[in-house]
Amino acid sequence: MSKIAIVYGSSTGVTKTIAEKLQTLVEGAELFDVADVNVEDLKPFDFYFFGTATVGVGDLQDDWDVILPKIEKLDFTGKKIALFALGDSASFSTSFAGAMYYIYKALKGKAEFVGAVSTDGYTFDESDAVVDGKFIGLALDEDNEYDLTDERLKNWLEDLKPYLQ
Ligand SMILES: Cc1cc2nc3c(=O)[nH]c(=O)nc-3n(C[C@H](O)[C@H](O)[C@H](O)COP(=O)(O)O)c2cc1C
Repeated sequence: MSKIAIVYGSSTGVTKTIAEKLQTLVEGAELFDVADVNVEDLKPFDFYFFGTATVGVGDLQDDWDVILPKIEKLDFTGKKIALFALGDSASFSTSFAGAMYYIYKALKGKAEFVGAVSTDGYTFDESDAVVDGKFIGLALDEDNEYDLTDERLKNWLEDLKPYLQ
């Protein structure tokens, strides 16, 4: 069975709540807040969920800034990563959930990314998190579309199922 980590950065608690919900849905997953994680503790996993709030204009949540350069140095050979980002597609329509692109950019080529998501059903104008026509991970909007979150999470985990066993 895969050893699974959920690693998140959250400024006002929304991403934290989603990460906790994810933990209830993924059997055996361990939860880490990037604000106080030791990078050594992240080594013994096969599968990583990396989640972030989007701050500034499409920026990565602040607590990631210190840890991401350290995570970049880990050996991800044979490991898989699924990204998720929180955003507000109404107020930040041109940078929606863009934060996950920074994690993608930092770790691209070092690990296999899984869990790209169709942009169908989302309302926004632009996002760095869209690569080759799809979100590079799961975009969630608890500010405007909280009623879609459970279904989006469920569909995403269904896609990821083969990697989580
Ligand atoms: C100052 C500020 C800047 C934000 N910038 C963006 C943005 O560029 N793009 C976006 O999609 N959401 C943006 N958001 C919305 C947050 O990402 C969203 O509310 C998220 O759920 C917050 O998660 P957290 O509680 O884990 O910090 C911004 C929110 C604030 C307060």
